[in-house]
Amino acid sequence: MRNTMSAYQVAVVGGDGIGPEVVNEGLRVIEAAGVSLETHNYDLGGARYLRDETVLPDSVLDEWRNVDAIYLGAVGTPGVPPGVIERGLLLKMRFDLDLYVNQRPFKTDTHDFVVIRENTEGSYAGEGGVLRKGTEHEIATQGSVNTRRGAERCIRYAFELAQSRNQHLTLVHKTNVLTFSGDLWQRTFDAVSKEFSTVETAYNHVDAACIYFVQDPQRYDVIVTDNLFGDILTDLGGAVSGGIGLASSANLNPARSGPSMFEPVHGSAPDIAGQAKANPIAAILSGALMLDFLGESEAAKRIERACEACVEVEGSTSEIADAVVAKL
Ligand code: IPM
Ligand code: MN
Repeated sequence: MRNTMSAYQVAVVGGDGIGPEVVNEGLRVIEAAGVSLETHNYDLGGARYLRDETVLPDSVLDEWRNVDAIYLGAVGTPGVPPGVIERGLLLKMRFDLDLYVNQRPFKTDTHDFVVIRENTEGSYAGEGGVLRKGTEHEIATQGSVNTRRGAERCIRYAFELAQSRNQHLTLVHKTNVLTFSGDLWQRTFDAVSKEFSTVETAYNHVDAACIYFVQDPQRYDVIVTDNLFGDILTDLGGAVSGGIGLASSANLNPARSGPSMFEPVHGSAPDIAGQAKANPIAAILSGALMLDFLGESEAAKRIERACEACVEVEGSTSEIADAVVAKL
């Protein structure tokens, strides 16, 4: 649907809480950077669910298959049972659009590093079930699904990224305890590494990686890890690199068989919604990741540098975005 006058077609889900506020600023900054988007708004998220029980209709997913990208603020509203929006919207997007890489970059004062999180398998796959619910004999299992193909395509993406950066890739897992899935990941990692002779490799257990994130993040360039470890580690990554208000993410379909999705790592923060208190930088940086993936790397770089110059700026949501625009 990339049409004539070269406006990118972007599906926008502002979502709940602070989501619409930060996404609007992101779109404003992209425009100011000179990239033209034709946006298509979708009213989805917890508030929509509470209104009419709509989560993510297949018809919407079908429309999204034809856009260039999806830009999402945040979803989640108090009063919606856990899992409805997470599984029904976010994970459905990741799975059905095959967004198999979740790329989350981090910057400290002295360096930057990237976590590549597998985004379609592991403990998120939904394997498991419950028996004898509510009785004293209740049993619940929640398995972790790891396929050779799923691990391999994610690991290969991470190697390619490391090759384009500083030639260093760390696998993070828990191979000493998760001896089945960890072994699959380790063997796949070792096999793919043979294709990338210039990339130096390392391995850390996930618990040790938590210490290194806090005490010695300089050791990392690119990290690759499974879905759940990546979820937890990237919140920690945000916390040690300026706070979750700066953390951006790209849910990528690197095969480009459909659109990719870009969203800040933070949630909908209902406690500060509507007060212009949200920091829009994470959403703006997610917009920059979107432009970069669309091939607008020059505009993406300018937005990223402008954001870097504004991490100390205080003010309302739109004042922070104004400061970014002024630095472009
Ligand atoms: C994230 C979020 C999601 C996840 C939730 C909201 C389903 O925490 O993007 O990191 O666990 O992946
Ligand atoms: Mn998370």
